[in-house]
Amino acid sequence: MMQFPFTLQAPAKINLTLDIFSKRADGYHSLASVMQAIGLYDTLTFSLQESEEVTFTCEAPHSPDVPTDTTNLVVRAALLVREAAEIKRGIAIHLEKRIPSQAGLGGGSSDAATALIGVNRALGNPLTEKQLHALALTLGSDVPFFLTGGTATARGRGEQLTPLLDLPTQWLIIVKPEENVSTGWAYNALDAILDRASHRGTKRMEEAIRQQDWERLIAFQCNDFERPVFEHYPKIAWLHDELLMAGALTAHLCGSGSAVYGIAKSEADAEKIASRMRGRYPQVAVSPTLQRERNESALGD
Ligand code: C5P
Repeated sequence: MMQFPFTLQAPAKINLTLDIFSKRADGYHSLASVMQAIGLYDTLTFSLQESEEVTFTCEAPHSPDVPTDTTNLVVRAALLVREAAEIKRGIAIHLEKRIPSQAGLGGGSSDAATALIGVNRALGNPLTEKQLHALALTLGSDVPFFLTGGTATARGRGEQLTPLLDLPTQWLIIVKPEENVSTGWAYNALDAILDRASHRGTKRMEEAIRQQDWERLIAFQCNDFERPVFEHYPKIAWLHDELLMAGALTAHLCGSGSAVYGIAKSEADAEKIASRMRGRYPQVAVSPTLQRERNESALGD
């Protein structure tokens, strides 16, 4: 018997590589990215309620602009699962937000994926993983990844996923600057660069991970959005340089930004680097990379 209420964690992600190719006829870009789930979480709590409604509440001290109506991806995800399962059970969802918005960390997408898993579980798991994956893509290009988690390559629009070997835990410093970057803007800015060429780093990163070559894992990280975002937002470029000067082994933009991550040699080093950034940026977090098992336990029943 399912116990209520129950809580699931929705992890953030970074992109270890992000190659953006051409714009497709449907307006989306084809891409290749090695995506990595990280231990910076939002929390979703699911309870049953008497009425047949889906209700949603949210605590978001860092992102006061999170909508709580049906434009929120969590609400949309819950309604999609109920509709596909043809079960009208009343569910209340409470979201505690820690992942900053407009940061490229996939917070909204992860919340949506976790809502799909949670509502499906609350209804007794009527939908298969394949059905959840199809619903995930209707909510956003990054949502399917959060059903897989761990380390995985995303191709197509982001929905063609290949799970990769788990990495040895890497310690990250995640810094969210004042600036917000909209994903739509970032894609347009990239398209406006006439002489642009993609890094095409995803293939060699996959090879490095297959060979368990952890030096190349650090050396091969890249992100095509860095060029337009660093050019348009010099403060974000500076934040990237600062992480390197503070001792990070490498530093890159998270997705289309605005957050930047650095990788440190150890947890202690990550804390040391973070303490140099705290107080000067709105949010600074130390977080490990995650292995896949968390997602399997979240999906399995
Ligand atoms: O899929 P999602 O709604 O998260 O995408 C947000 C925006 O990012 C899209 O409207 C599109 O402009 C851009 N995008 C894209 N190619 C992708 C993913 C997103 O152009 N593969």
